[in-house]
Amino acid sequence: MRGWLGKTKALVLLGSLLLLLSGCGKENLTALVPKGYGAQSSMDLIVLTTVVMSAVFLVVVLILVVVLIRFRKKKGQEDFIPKQVEGSVTLETVWTAIPIILVIIMAVPTVMAEFDLADTEERDDHRNITVTGYQYWWHFDYDDDEIQTSQDLYIPVGERVYLDLKSEDVLHSFWIPSLAGKLDVNPENVNTFYIEAYEEGVYYGKCAELCGASHALMDFKVIAVSPEDFDQWVDDMQSFDPEELELDSVAQEGKELFEANNCMSCHAIGGSGDPLGPNLASFGDRTRFAGILDPTKENLVDWIMDPDEIKPDNKMKFDNYPEISEEDAGKMAEYLMELKPSEITPDTVPDLASE
Ligand code: CUA
Repeated sequence: MRGWLGKTKALVLLGSLLLLLSGCGKENLTALVPKGYGAQSSMDLIVLTTVVMSAVFLVVVLILVVVLIRFRKKKGQEDFIPKQVEGSVTLETVWTAIPIILVIIMAVPTVMAEFDLADTEERDDHRNITVTGYQYWWHFDYDDDEIQTSQDLYIPVGERVYLDLKSEDVLHSFWIPSLAGKLDVNPENVNTFYIEAYEEGVYYGKCAELCGASHALMDFKVIAVSPEDFDQWVDDMQSFDPEELELDSVAQEGKELFEANNCMSCHAIGGSGDPLGPNLASFGDRTRFAGILDPTKENLVDWIMDPDEIKPDNKMKFDNYPEISEEDAGKMAEYLMELKPSEITPDTVPDLASE
């Protein structure tokens, strides 16, 4: 009776776990539906190790069941001692050799995949982007194209993109589950790997290393577009001049407030300077800002007035952060939402999340 109850509990537990995990399956945020080269090579390893370990499990269970049934102590055998096998060279050799062979079967492809993803020999034939982690946002520097963005990483589909990862403060970890495995982002060295997206779409990226109070809010997006659209985006970004924007009077006032409040001393818009805060060049096209917020005027006003409330311990609110009224914050929000350098945006690619 107890045995059956235990089994029912185990089944219920397993069922709930499966149900819970199936919620992790959104196509733009799961390593289990690979959409890029690194994720596919990880998935191949997952399948290989799962098959090998399942085979081990099945064989062990089979042997256990056979032994339990065949070699039960029977009536009249109370004093019977089976044949002892300790010290058997044959048996010791077999059960030492089998695990070693299994480990080799799993280790060789794993090590090969690791070296492959970190191989930078061909980097000169491909696009190179420097990724810098900050508490709690990401900066992307398109070295070859002289473009800078934050939070949104645009890449062309079907092409290798080499990423040089470094940190300006503490340890972070760069992870786009659908496209590639994690790679550490360190202050003291540069780690390099490449990614390649197979399909157009907006992929969710995460920081995967506990880096402070807002670690869980350190999200970013990868927008994979067709190579033609990518070239268009590069052109648009390169020729974008925020001074040439046609603004209505409210947004124009917002622009002046943005400058008067010295926002520019931390935030670059476009290619200038080495920013302390996120580059706002394509701010109006972002699907999220501050990593996690919908880009509505209301959210922006809340953010500008008290960023610490939303994202604890972020570096925006320094000691003499200006007092900004709700009205002024609203005008600045209107201006920031006008920063749309390109027709190519996250809206121009298929929405994988809804599939
Ligand atoms: Cu950066 Cu966690």
